[in-house]
Amino acid sequence: MISGTTRLFAILADPVGHVRTPQALNARFAEAGQDAVLVPCEVGPDALEETVRGLRNVRNLGGLVVTVPHKTEIARHCNALSERARLAGAVNVVRREADGRLFGDLLDGAGFVAGLSAAEVELEGRSVFLAGAGGAASAIAFALAEAGAARLTVANRSEAKARALLQRLQSAFPAVAVEAGHDPQRHDIAVNATSLGLKPDDPLPFDPADLSPGTLVAEVIMQPEETPLLAAAAARGLPTHLGRMMLEGQLRQMMAFLLPEAEGAA
Ligand SMILES: NC(=O)c1ccc[n+]([C@@H]2O[C@H](COP(=O)([O-])OP(=O)(O)OC[C@H]3O[C@@H](n4cnc5c(N)ncnc54)[C@H](OP(=O)(O)O)[C@@H]3O)[C@@H](O)[C@H]2O)c1
Repeated sequence: MISGTTRLFAILADPVGHVRTPQALNARFAEAGQDAVLVPCEVGPDALEETVRGLRNVRNLGGLVVTVPHKTEIARHCNALSERARLAGAVNVVRREADGRLFGDLLDGAGFVAGLSAAEVELEGRSVFLAGAGGAASAIAFALAEAGAARLTVANRSEAKARALLQRLQSAFPAVAVEAGHDPQRHDIAVNATSLGLKPDDPLPFDPADLSPGTLVAEVIMQPEETPLLAAAAARGLPTHLGRMMLEGQLRQMMAFLLPEAEGAA
């Protein structure tokens, strides 16, 4: 029950209707007996700065969850960033400290890796084809490298963004073989980390027909649960991994980050 003592959290997105985090995190808050609520806020890019400036003054605001299209921009409005957020240049959770300072972190990548791990997918020494170079893709690229992936091919519509991501990745993880390219063949795992698949008439981010047999096809899109990409992959007999596994993978970490003082936050 929301009361005068409830700690407020807000998820900033545009649009916000498709997000799945409020129901998932509110269920976690309730399970953990936390007097906290996450509410959806639809905020356009032009209003982000002003919104964040106002929210800083809300003393019972515990923090923010941030998603498309604000993950890169929100980093500029934080007072401090975690190392992984700084490296990826994106933020998806912000904690408001008691003095109003904002600390940003990026849990998407760790969540994606935790989701794969929950499905018993081994990453050590694997080669991964990654479609996308935005906030989610960057976070995933760094987390895959950290988890021991040996080779990463990044394919993005804007080539310059793919190259910039690979440059940052290479300097942080020199042992990983990285390249920009659009050929998804000969990879163990192929990931859609673009926003393609959210809309019914979106083209496929890559064609599962081009994948080698046995390649695991993983999604970041949660709605619809079975995207056209996953359907096409399954039709070819390829193993698939749902987008919601990434969110499930990061809920525990979101709880611990947003409510660090909550005993047994999990
Ligand atoms: N499952 C989860 O827990 C989870 C967590 C985070 C995000 N997500 C999902 O991940 C998706 C991407 O989020 P994001 O934060 O990375 O967004 P973003 O920073 O805006 O990046 C979007 C990416 O999609 C590409 N893209 C968009 N429209 C395209 C098109 N028409 N053709 C080709 N490429 C296109 C962009 O390419 P350009 O660089 O060329 O623009 C970019 O690589 C979203 O749909 C979000 O819902 C899921």
